[in-house]
Amino acid sequence: MIALRLHPDKQSAAQALARETADLIGLRSESGKPTVLGLATGSTPLPLYAELIRLHREERLSFRTVITFNLDEYEGLGPAHPQSYRRFMEEHLFRHLDIPSGNIRFPDGLAKDPAQECAAYEAAIRAAGGIDLQILGIGRTGHIGFNEPPSAVESRTRRVRLDEVTRRDNAVFFDEPTAVPHRALTMGVATILEARRVELLAFGAAKADIVARAVRETPSADCPATWLQRHPACTFHLDAASASKL
Ligand code: F6R
Repeated sequence: MIALRLHPDKQSAAQALARETADLIGLRSESGKPTVLGLATGSTPLPLYAELIRLHREERLSFRTVITFNLDEYEGLGPAHPQSYRRFMEEHLFRHLDIPSGNIRFPDGLAKDPAQECAAYEAAIRAAGGIDLQILGIGRTGHIGFNEPPSAVESRTRRVRLDEVTRRDNAVFFDEPTAVPHRALTMGVATILEARRVELLAFGAAKADIVARAVRETPSADCPATWLQRHPACTFHLDAASASKL
């Protein structure tokens, strides 16, 4: 079942979730354990990342024991490419923290053998002990990560084709719409479901329809976010607009 948490606005949601993330990091590092975070890109998690940076700067929250795995990367874009997700994360989060650079993991969008790269990514997640807390956004197609419809519940990290709706939505980050890559490497639905905790963020009226579908529809590959109903500890963090169709 999906737990629903309504926040007054996205800043309040970011503050609440950043605090929970900090508590988790603190608790685990006290017992000598790393914290493995699964991270998303896109506009939605930006207030959360800003708040984590604030906690680092003003409350000395340390990320030295944190290991991160991002959900996805565009095929063909290397870490230095301005529109790569690696670069996005560097600018909006990593470069502002004390996280060791070796603890930051991404699928390699330039991999010569994507299948091997994806298998290695799965193995790296397992070797790190699995994801403790996975942050998600949701696409209007119902995608989580870049698991576009149809995506099976058993799907693993793999090379995928992006839906045209997603390419149009993500064009805001590119100089021109045709520059949005057609393919990406993404964690699979099964990979995401293995995270011990999943926190999905969705704000604004544009997400209202898809949030309602994700929560209400019978789980199926046609709306991959519905698979989250099978997760034992998944919370959707919403504002009044994104929750308006529930
Ligand atoms: C990003 C990702 C996507 C986004 C989704 C929502 O790494 O995996 O699933 O979370 O496309 O994007 P925004 O937040 O820009 O609406």
